[in-house]
Amino acid sequence: MYVCMCKKVTDRQLRQAVAQGASSFGEVSRETRCSTQCGKCTCLAREIVDDALLAQFGATHPAAQRFDELAYAVG
Ligand code: FES
Repeated sequence: MYVCMCKKVTDRQLRQAVAQGASSFGEVSRETRCSTQCGKCTCLAREIVDDALLAQFGATHPAAQRFDELAYAVG
């Protein structure tokens, strides 16, 4: 599905960027151009990238800490 309408970036492209070595949302954004125009896609794009980073790098990646913080905030 399209995540970023401005730059026509799909969730698959975001996950592929992580699989090819991007290790942060910034790197994924630079590579795909996702979230570089209006920014409305940023929250969803970050969720997808964090999920992909967790799958790729496991609980030691900083994305895991953000998930823990969110889980704590939600309850
Ligand atoms: S929808 Fe992604 S930058 Fe506008």
